[in-house]
Amino acid sequence: MDMQEQLRRIQEEASAQLEGIRDKAGLDALRLKMLGKKGELTMLLRSMGQLPAEERPKAGQMINAVRERLTAHMDELDAKIKQLEQEKKLEREAIDVTEPRAHTPIGCPHPISLVQDQLCDVFTGMGFDVVEGPEVEFDLFNFELLNLPKNHPARDAQDTFYIDENIVLRTHTSPVQARTMRSRKPPIRIVCPGRVYRADEVDATHSPVFHQMEGLVIDKDVTMADLKGTLDAFAQNLYGEDVTTRFRPSFFPFTEPSAEVDLTCVNCHGKGCRVCKGTGWIEVLGAGMVNPKVLDMCGIDSKTYSGFAFGVGLERIAMLRYGITDMRLFYEGDVRFLSQFRED
Ligand code: DAH
Repeated sequence: MDMQEQLRRIQEEASAQLEGIRDKAGLDALRLKMLGKKGELTMLLRSMGQLPAEERPKAGQMINAVRERLTAHMDELDAKIKQLEQEKKLEREAIDVTEPRAHTPIGCPHPISLVQDQLCDVFTGMGFDVVEGPEVEFDLFNFELLNLPKNHPARDAQDTFYIDENIVLRTHTSPVQARTMRSRKPPIRIVCPGRVYRADEVDATHSPVFHQMEGLVIDKDVTMADLKGTLDAFAQNLYGEDVTTRFRPSFFPFTEPSAEVDLTCVNCHGKGCRVCKGTGWIEVLGAGMVNPKVLDMCGIDSKTYSGFAFGVGLERIAMLRYGITDMRLFYEGDVRFLSQFRED
């Protein structure tokens, strides 16, 4: 076979194969087969030595021309393949923005969180800071500094879970009072919301874990009138202008005098109904003037300063606010109950 014939055959074969190539691997293989070190065209170029000297330049030119053409075709195909692969990749990764999305249910705040936030809003509006304390608390803060020494009978009402002799799950948010008095200087104006614990059986109005919010004000010349005014403002903010408070004498070791505080029944506006058992009043919190003994134990001079404190159960507030009659509903995590408190 003469060289021209071979060259034509190579070119035809290469063109035919180029037609069928769709990917880079195929193209690389063809490139190697034709133009590689042992490629057909390369071999042909090498065999030129066998030709008579006068034919060589012409043959060389022809082979090189074919080589250039083939290379150009292959480069062209290479670019096309790259573009195709890019397009395929984009297609694979395309997002159909019209496709309906999977349904993601949106949660809503727990009614206790709602009430807690509302109360914090009301009190921060009156200049109070929001402070938090630990739920695992020293007996010192939970009882001792609040004038509830070991063996004091008032401890009975707040039986709790003991971690050891000196550490308890706090029975109320009042220990945050003691912590704050020890770490801040008057004037003090704080509220402390949080979870508290008692060794109580579960029923419609009791739970071993529940929530309270404590309030504490310490300054010069603070009187019970300030306490009354503050609680009236709180009640009206939460339940409306026609709600007032009623104080009844009570006992807490950390306040003197102490009071149980009732609100005008939010259900009947004081007329008397099932919710308030016909009295027109609903008991919602404990309060009083901070016992001077507590002030002194917590490092505040009771001759210069006085203060008031109060503690309110958040479950009770939420039950009154939303007309809930069983406290257990708060803790069961039933979305049919919880999703009713969405505030859109
Ligand atoms: N700590 C009391 C309780 O859990 C509530 C309480 C009453 C808090 C009177 C106070 C207060 O700050 O002055 O029953």
